[in-house]
Amino acid sequence: MRKKIVAGNWKMNTTVPEGVELAKAVVAKAAGVPSEVGLVIAPPFTHLACVAEVLKGSGVGLSAQNCADKEKGAFTGEVSVDMLVSAGCGYTILGHSERRQYYGETDDKLVTKTRLALGAGLSVILCVGENLDEREQGRQFDVVSEQIKNVLYNFSAEDMARIIVAYEPVWAIGTGKTATAEQAEEIHACIRKVLADKFGAGVADDVTILYGGSCKPSNARELFACPDIDGGLIGGAALNADDFIKIALSF
Ligand code: 13P
Repeated sequence: MRKKIVAGNWKMNTTVPEGVELAKAVVAKAAGVPSEVGLVIAPPFTHLACVAEVLKGSGVGLSAQNCADKEKGAFTGEVSVDMLVSAGCGYTILGHSERRQYYGETDDKLVTKTRLALGAGLSVILCVGENLDEREQGRQFDVVSEQIKNVLYNFSAEDMARIIVAYEPVWAIGTGKTATAEQAEEIHACIRKVLADKFGAGVADDVTILYGGSCKPSNARELFACPDIDGGLIGGAALNADDFIKIALSF
């Protein structure tokens, strides 16, 4: 059985003290979330070690938002997978559309980063999703399938046990425009089919596929009711502990 997960991507928000307070608020409310729903938060790099202390013993997972595509050395400003593990991370988000769009993240680079992250023992939350132009041209299935193939077809069925996919249509991120449950479900089903083609139905069936893009307490229930939607990757609403936990209670 695949895991249900609600993950909060804080992006470039909160100072360290604010982040510690937010993490404490999430931990305080996490006890009310059924044990079959995994909670993960992804604060900025600067917060990770402090937030890890807050999360100790809570069952809430800690994720980075990115990692370097190099192991170590003279790469000023980069953060390695070993650093993330030593700071207490169990996960890293990779391939977020904001990184693809503003920081030149390519599928090739994502293969390298995913390999490094898995090698260090991290689980990877790999983001995929089409932009508005691509959707208007009806290319959403092709775009998302290519992203999945370009990255994940380089890995093994065993590796897939530590891969979470997040479908985030770019036009729905931070815009207040959510994909309808039907629009999200048909892409999630397509992602699972693309994974099944390579790894077999059993492996594909066990992969957690999250929806992201203006997911909030008011729409989470309808989205999470879909058969191939296993939770959410939450941006704005994850900056409020009440909203984040309400989303986690929406299964
Ligand atoms: P919003 O929930 O703010 O639309 O962001 C979604 C997202 O990009 C999560 O990674």
